Amino acid sequence: MSATKPQLASFRSIGAYVPEKILSNEDLEKMVDTTDEWITKRTGIKERHIADKDESTSDMGAKAAQKAIERAGLKAEDIDLVLCATVTPDYFNMPSTACIISDKIGIRNVQAFDISAACSGFVYALSVAKAFIESGMKKNVLVVGAEKFSSIVDYTDRSTCILFGDGAGAAVISATEKEDEAFVDVHASADGNYADFLVTPAPGSVNPVSQQVIDEGLNFVQMKGNETFKLAVKTLTKDVKEILEKNAIASDDIPHFIPHQANYRIIKAVGDALKMKEEQVVRTVHKYGNTSAASIPMAINDIWESGRLQKGELMLLDTFGGGLTWASALLPFAGESC
Ligand code: UT7
Repeated sequence: MSATKPQLASFRSIGAYVPEKILSNEDLEKMVDTTDEWITKRTGIKERHIADKDESTSDMGAKAAQKAIERAGLKAEDIDLVLCATVTPDYFNMPSTACIISDKIGIRNVQAFDISAACSGFVYALSVAKAFIESGMKKNVLVVGAEKFSSIVDYTDRSTCILFGDGAGAAVISATEKEDEAFVDVHASADGNYADFLVTPAPGSVNPVSQQVIDEGLNFVQMKGNETFKLAVKTLTKDVKEILEKNAIASDDIPHFIPHQANYRIIKAVGDALKMKEEQVVRTVHKYGNTSAASIPMAINDIWESGRLQKGELMLLDTFGGGLTWASALLPFAGESC
């Protein structure tokens, strides 16, 4: 009797949704004491997209998810697990945004839950999808990264409001027996010692909603920008070197290095430290800003839709965010080319 082949995880499709409204650097010049020149030089960001007032995180996530399912050649009923990475959920306690997305796209009676790892959320969710598939428990996992960051940004704080944008990306991770389609590796880690580097102090059990929360603006994101920047460059570089070394892959052999899109100076510093050529490094931060958990799937979608990402090509993902959390993944694109 021949042994059954183990079930492996493959990245089968990608989709994204970007809200229509654009907030440009010139718009921000009219709102806070800043300039297009400062923002461009310090971050590489020119504009970001902002969701409508009545457009929620799940609305954006559902639109991205529908595209990903369609592009995988599947139907809603084929999905057996829904994961949504977000730190701007529709509701801060319950229900989860994954449950709401499932309902909006007609996925019924299937396990669904959110993952909270800030900007690292999508890659964290990939590690969960991989584990569920390799254990044999699931076959087609929908992984969504969706953020309405504008809902937690203080548009009078120039140190944060210039950075963030809204949007969503989604992927279908499917079971395969083919080794050349399978994830090579995923690594995720955290250090809560730096929890105060990036924090939204309320609402939560520490600061339940109160007049004081509103008066002090504790519901808005706060960031130790410069400290986070330095740690991001160091951690991302180390993380990528480790995953490449562990899997005996040279940085030259990576056609698509897709880092978290927080700041072009971080992306450039990490790319340079790895001796990557400009064409290997994917950059979308200029047009979307930092969309947290949506940043990596939106970037993958961009290169797929523009025809740059072909079936079988290797992607190296690398991310860093609040928690602090970080994660990297090495995997081929196993879907059809655009
Ligand atoms: O996604 C999760 C991970 N996030 C990140 O990795 C983000 C990491 N941080 C950053 O991207 C950068 O630290 C920032 C873009 C947020 C800030 O850039 P920086 O080069 O680290 O600037 P800084 O915070 O050291 O501030 C330098 C100066 C300050 O003025 P003084 O004290 O030198 O007089 C700030 O007040 O720039 C000032 N500043 C601004 N000036 C014009 C801060 N924000 C602005 C602004 N426009 N929007």
